[in-house]
Amino acid sequence: MSSTHAILVTGGAGFIGSHVVRRLVRRYPTYKIVNYDALTYAGNLDNLTDISSASNYAFEKGDINDMDHVVRTLHKHNINGIIHLAAESHVDRSIEDPLSFVRTNVLGTTSMLEAFRRYRKDTGIEGKFYHVSTDEVYGELGDTGYFTEKTPYSPRSPYSASKASSDHFVRAYHATYGLPVVISNCSNNYGPNQFPEKLIPLMIHNIRKGIPLPVYGEGANIRDWLYVEDHAEAIDLIYHEGRPGETYNIGGDSEWKNIDLVRTLCKLMDEKTGRLLGSSEELIHFVKDRAGHDHRYAIDFSKLKNELGWTPAADFIEGLSKTIDWYLANDAWVERVTDGSYKEYYERQYGEK
Ligand code: NAD
Ligand code: TYD
Repeated sequence: MSSTHAILVTGGAGFIGSHVVRRLVRRYPTYKIVNYDALTYAGNLDNLTDISSASNYAFEKGDINDMDHVVRTLHKHNINGIIHLAAESHVDRSIEDPLSFVRTNVLGTTSMLEAFRRYRKDTGIEGKFYHVSTDEVYGELGDTGYFTEKTPYSPRSPYSASKASSDHFVRAYHATYGLPVVISNCSNNYGPNQFPEKLIPLMIHNIRKGIPLPVYGEGANIRDWLYVEDHAEAIDLIYHEGRPGETYNIGGDSEWKNIDLVRTLCKLMDEKTGRLLGSSEELIHFVKDRAGHDHRYAIDFSKLKNELGWTPAADFIEGLSKTIDWYLANDAWVERVTDGSYKEYYERQYGEK
């Protein structure tokens, strides 16, 4: 057996996964990083063109529900550990089609756990299963307070219910089979390569096109925002140093009310595109609220800070500015991902293109 440390990253062609894969490939030249992804509408190998020919990188197309294929892939690459990010990740799509979230997030995660348990039994490899989850499993907060690792689970959308369920299965594999698992629950990410169905890239895209900016309800909901590269750094650290059986919350220390965030984005876009200041704001359009819309998320990440020394590095306005610059410079990427199926989704969700 080879002595190279090999990590299987599921969902590595998606938004966060691609930043995790890039970081690991660049930072650990002696490791092998295997990206396992089904390439759904959200997965895009263009996200990784800069590292795709690196000698320590490999791509395997496959579905996390295909347990036999996962087991074969684990053997083929002598995998030591798994970082599991593959998921259906968008709340609005979960409201439209909850069962596909159960299939991918609940059954798919359990299938990954079972594949890894069998593979470890066959090979005696002692590696970790790292499950990347969301703060949304904790439900919603009022205007004060923070989610800690001890906050009881109270998911309120089909997406968060499916992620909560997958977290329970991960813990059950630890308790029942002694699988060395670790879980992190993170707040809203933003940055380059995010699919334009999520708030920030959707607004950037619509401002560019000069079409309405759909703000749900009164725009009073609050999210905590973390720059995606800071999340990738936390994942790297937790994979290597997180204690088996433990959970770590990850947050950006950057709470924004949606309407304030959208107005800030409009201002930055006006500045960067040379438009008359205030013209993008005129596109703001308040639309019907999301069903079961969680009011506020906010994270206490003191456990991660105190145990492993992690804090978010990016300032939100600087991160937002970098994100806008990336989208302005990557028209071709945006055009490719907003093809036919995106237009159909947009029409169903917002009733206009
Ligand atoms: P994403 O939707 O951008 O990417 C998901 C990736 O998983 C895609 O590449 C897709 O092709 C792949 N995938 C989907 N179903 C699959 C299947 N059955 N088999 C194999 N691959 C499959 O998601 P993201 O925003 O990068 O989120 C990644 C993870 O982080 C998810 O588990 C999500 O719950 C979690 N998370 C996301 C955020 C956020 O703000 N985006 C915050 C906290 C946690
Ligand atoms: P989103 O990016 O979908 O992330 P999540 O729902 O997982 O937090 O949405 C972030 C916030 O923005 C959320 O409060 C819903 C709101 N939102 C809108 O107001 N309009 C939109 O078109 C979208 C996609 C989101």
